[in-house]
Amino acid sequence: FGNEVIDIRALNKATGMFTLDPGFVSTASCESKITFIDGDKGLLYYRGYPIEQLAEHSDYLEVCYLLIYGELPTAEQKAKFEETVTKHTMVHEQLTWFFRGFRRDAHPMAMMVGVVGALSAFYQDSLEISDPHHREVAIYRLISKIPTIAAMCYRYSNGLPFNYPRNDLGYAANFMHMMFATPCEPYEPNPVLVRALDRIFILHADHEQNASTSTVRLAGSSGANPFACIASGISSLWGPSHGGANEAVLDMLDEIGDVSRVAEFMEGVKQKKYRLMGFGHRVYRNMDPRASIMKQTCYEVLTELGLQDSPKFKLAMELEQIALNDPYFVERKLYPNVDFYSGIVLSALGIPVSMFTVIFALSRTVGWISHWNEMISDPNQKIGRPRQLYTGAARRDFVATDKR
Ligand code: ACO
Repeated sequence: FGNEVIDIRALNKATGMFTLDPGFVSTASCESKITFIDGDKGLLYYRGYPIEQLAEHSDYLEVCYLLIYGELPTAEQKAKFEETVTKHTMVHEQLTWFFRGFRRDAHPMAMMVGVVGALSAFYQDSLEISDPHHREVAIYRLISKIPTIAAMCYRYSNGLPFNYPRNDLGYAANFMHMMFATPCEPYEPNPVLVRALDRIFILHADHEQNASTSTVRLAGSSGANPFACIASGISSLWGPSHGGANEAVLDMLDEIGDVSRVAEFMEGVKQKKYRLMGFGHRVYRNMDPRASIMKQTCYEVLTELGLQDSPKFKLAMELEQIALNDPYFVERKLYPNVDFYSGIVLSALGIPVSMFTVIFALSRTVGWISHWNEMISDPNQKIGRPRQLYTGAARRDFVATDKR
């Protein structure tokens, strides 16, 4: 049928017929007005705006507003939105005690799942999700508090005291402050590095119905509260096939070690001994538009830090060049994805590998909650209830224990 769309609901009503589609490879689970992807052409639009234009001219909080409300804010709306988000960055003081229940060596993502889920115990008015005002407050709370919680996860796992948010800093700079400031050395924002982090947030803000967003929608379809839904999204994102690829890219670059070993490594990839991490994508059969922005950001950050000759960056560029000209990758339409350069940027910003997926979760929270809100606002919204094709035993009679 090519790209034709079949509405199976009518067919199901008339005949009882349903489709089997493991992994939702060809089934749309919902209609959405938030994000558009054309994987063949390598296009990504948030609410109709190309990601390249947003990364160049916008900032993360403006993109949050766009994703939530569907339009870019006026100057007045933007200022009010920024002020409200900034005012909600503190978390309930009792949450610090919640952290103390975790082992010091707990993975930051494990803490994120628990603490974000626990927000429902602290902000009980946000549980009244049929009221649009309460939903909006929940959205603000999540976007405001997620960086604070993410930084607390990092500080706790390193045995460091928590840093309170600073209202005089922008969203990304405040996150850097909460991560890295010490009582003796306050965080001095570097505009190039802050802009790079803000861009990483923008590039990861939404990506339509990926595994974690679909998880949030499915969890929310039962009427579950927004904090529980976002915790379920974080859990799904934690899986290595979803949020962990940039870490795998760094491991791969470490393993290759030197440009002289690239040819040998690529031979191994072609013999399917290993994968070229940060390459390939289920949806993009062309360049992931986020990858080129990330490469440019990587260059800017490394230059700012005087690391433009970084062996890892050189190695990554060499791998990319070889792959883009190699028939094996060309025929399979394998191009760099967003993760190919993001790990190098995050490392250069001083962010440890264990926090990479946390940063992804922080950025994606706005996408998750926008999808949740879009779904709950739909008067025809139904509980998500996939069918199954049963392949187990046929009916049989119970056998007493002594007769088995
Ligand atoms: N390196 C080498 N070969 C690859 C790669 C790769 N990274 N990705 C796919 N291939 C090859 C496969 O071996 C297969 O070859 P064949 O036709 O000879 O059997 C062909 O390309 C198709 O591969 P599939 O696995 O069917 O592609 P799929 O769409 O299922 O996989 C995925 C997509 C999981 C992202 C894959 O490309 C991959 O593992 N990439 C590396 C991990 C990665 O970077 N993940 C991040 C994705 S972006 C994100 O989540 C934010």
